[in-house]
Amino acid sequence: MKKKMSVLFVAILLFLWSLIWTKYGDTYDCINLYERPFFNYHSLKNHTYDFPVRYTSNPKRIRGQKSSQLFNPSNFWLNGKGCPLGMVPIRRNTMADLKRAKLAIEIHNSKYKPLTIDKRGTHYAIVGTKNKNNVYHGGSASISIYNPKVKGTQYSSARIKVQNYPDSIEVGWTVNPTLYNDTRTRLYTFTKTAKSSCFDTLCNSLIPVRTDIPLGIPLESISTPEQQFDLQLMLFCNGNWFLKFGQDETVIGFWPKNVFTALGDSANYVEWGGEVFSPPGVPSPPMGSGYSERLEENTKYDAYCRQIKTINETDYVVNAVDTESFSDIVQYQVIDEGRVGADQHLVLFGGVGGYIGE
Ligand SMILES: *[C@@H]1O[C@H](CO)[C@@H](O)[C@H](O)[C@H]1NC(C)=O
Ligand SMILES: *[C@@H]1O[C@H](CO)[C@@H](O)[C@H](O)[C@H]1NC(C)=O
Ligand SMILES: *[C@@H]1O[C@H](CO)[C@@H](O)[C@H](O)[C@H]1NC(C)=O
Repeated sequence: MKKKMSVLFVAILLFLWSLIWTKYGDTYDCINLYERPFFNYHSLKNHTYDFPVRYTSNPKRIRGQKSSQLFNPSNFWLNGKGCPLGMVPIRRNTMADLKRAKLAIEIHNSKYKPLTIDKRGTHYAIVGTKNKNNVYHGGSASISIYNPKVKGTQYSSARIKVQNYPDSIEVGWTVNPTLYNDTRTRLYTFTKTAKSSCFDTLCNSLIPVRTDIPLGIPLESISTPEQQFDLQLMLFCNGNWFLKFGQDETVIGFWPKNVFTALGDSANYVEWGGEVFSPPGVPSPPMGSGYSERLEENTKYDAYCRQIKTINETDYVVNAVDTESFSDIVQYQVIDEGRVGADQHLVLFGGVGGYIGE
């Protein structure tokens, strides 16, 4: 009897050891990245051997950058640090969470080809690269963080996107209650391939690598006219695609090359800007700061993507050139300011919304 009790005790301890909680009340499982029984990462089977090597490589930079901290694990995790070494946090989803996520994917997929007009409820104010024959090994930007008001199944996002049809990766911030069941601004990714599409780590495409930074984290520093906060993000392809976060360019996850059919080696299109969705009949939500109907052409008031860059075929991070801007309705605006200063290619975007269709 005693023995049985102690076995049970150890089992409970082990179970609790692999569970962690955030101060927002979310539960995460700590998963061993190398064992992955939990996930069945079939797409990884042929890849385990090369990712730790690739994982360390960096694109080449022409100049250095200052750094500031966006994410502090001790403000996020109840245990102050996240998972034990060698493990990654994966959100424990309830049936209700998964149901909402499925709906969020359906909503997100009900859309568009870039640079065409389609008013089906998804609206864009973006700047994208023009020449589809170019080869890109990635893109990056610092995106100002806002918390636009959305309701129901609406969402409002600001993001970078890389694409090589039929594959694409989006990364940025979003307010998406369908996905997260709250109206916080959160870091998100959306991965689309011929076979699947999903947010964050909800399907087998994006592999998280940090013990402390999961996808979907709330971004609490919201910009105001007095002070702007940026989300610095980079997508970099070097065999696999890597997601780099913050000014120290921490890798927080990667997509194994064989997840994709076309995007595996490079992108032929990179895009920056805002995206919103509203179901029919509901006035569309604000995009970006949502302060005013027309852009002020001032980074204190307009949402921006600054230092928009692409990574070229020889892995240099360079200023984005040959770009064009697009917005599908007048309620959302985008201004490509072009190069302002040595290291800056600035894009302003946003709008108050309120579009209810024709
Ligand atoms: C793994 O590699 C083998 C041999 O190269 C190939 O036949 C198989 O389809 C690959 N599996 C996956 C999941 O890519
Ligand atoms: C959303 O969160 C609330 C608690 O804030 C919870 O009661 C509700 O069940 C959640 N809804 C879904 C669909 O997960
Ligand atoms: C990439 O950029 C670097 C730095 O500007 C340049 O030297 C190199 O030629 C570029 N590579 C390609 C393929 O354009």
